[in-house]
Amino acid sequence: MHTRRIGDVEVSAIGLGAMPMSIEGRPDEARSLATLHAALDTGVTLIDTADAYHRDADEVGHNETLIAKALATHDRGGDVLVATKGGHLRPGDGSWTLDGSPRHLKEACEASLRRLGVEAIGLYQFHRPDPRVPYAESVGAVRELLDEGKILAAGVSNANPEQIELANDILGGRLVSVQNQFSPAFRSSEPELRLCDELGIAFLPWSPLGGISRAGELGSVHAPFARIAEAHGVSPQRVCLAWMLAKSPAVVPIPGASRPETIRDSAAATELVLTAEELAELDAA
Ligand SMILES: NC(=O)c1ccc[n+]([C@@H]2O[C@H](COP(=O)([O-])OP(=O)(O)OC[C@H]3O[C@@H](n4cnc5c(N)ncnc54)[C@H](OP(=O)(O)O)[C@@H]3O)[C@@H](O)[C@H]2O)c1
Repeated sequence: MHTRRIGDVEVSAIGLGAMPMSIEGRPDEARSLATLHAALDTGVTLIDTADAYHRDADEVGHNETLIAKALATHDRGGDVLVATKGGHLRPGDGSWTLDGSPRHLKEACEASLRRLGVEAIGLYQFHRPDPRVPYAESVGAVRELLDEGKILAAGVSNANPEQIELANDILGGRLVSVQNQFSPAFRSSEPELRLCDELGIAFLPWSPLGGISRAGELGSVHAPFARIAEAHGVSPQRVCLAWMLAKSPAVVPIPGASRPETIRDSAAATELVLTAEELAELDAA
């Protein structure tokens, strides 16, 4: 498995996005544990989660609890960087609400620590700017968590270039990752990707395959991905992830999965080398 860096930590160049195993449409626990174990078997050492990855109001942290269980029952569980987040809430009606207040972020971090069963969280990401709270105050809470040793590294998500610069300043140059939406159909975070590349900050594309309901359509929606996939005898999803990896050494995609075969297929993207012509064609697609 090829690796990349998030701050000081070396991780698999493809991570696992664990969200589909906890929200609407999730599989049963046995299939989720099999998916998480398949990821570990194949060498994945980065798992992305959030306290808000749950379905019902009374099961906050469902995804973190699931991951803690999977790691505890696998001999490579200790090698994994678990990247969680705080700042979103799910009231149980299918919606996603926000609380970026310092008080909430600190309480949320404590709860994540308990669910993950660790003394410090490997990577804590501020999930999404809350318009009711100055960005500097939210990120300031994350800085305090870092200074207190409750988290080992800090990231932000859904941030624009100005917010990335501000977060890095507030964190005293210690921002290690930015997680933004980026896929063949959603390329408007190219400026953030380029900024991360310049600053040496990891860029984690979320919904890299177009999102849970649309990822299966990648081939038909994006003909060049399907054509190049056929030429290599691989899936269009694998071509998509290899194309992203080629954009910058800062890029670490986190494709979601709820089945062992999909994370195995996605992880193999680290081995797929596309030609300069193919990459140019996909850039222009
Ligand atoms: N920071 C944020 O605000 C934010 C927002 C959304 C998501 N995220 C993170 O980003 C992760 C990824 O996003 P996502 O899960 O929304 O969407 P995605 O990665 O674009 O798509 C996930 C879907 O793609 C399918 N898939 C994965 N690999 C495949 C392959 N090789 N071949 C065919 N199908 C494949 C999976 O199918 P199966 O389910 O059948 O395995 C899954 O349902 C999430 O899990 C979450 O960790 C973050």
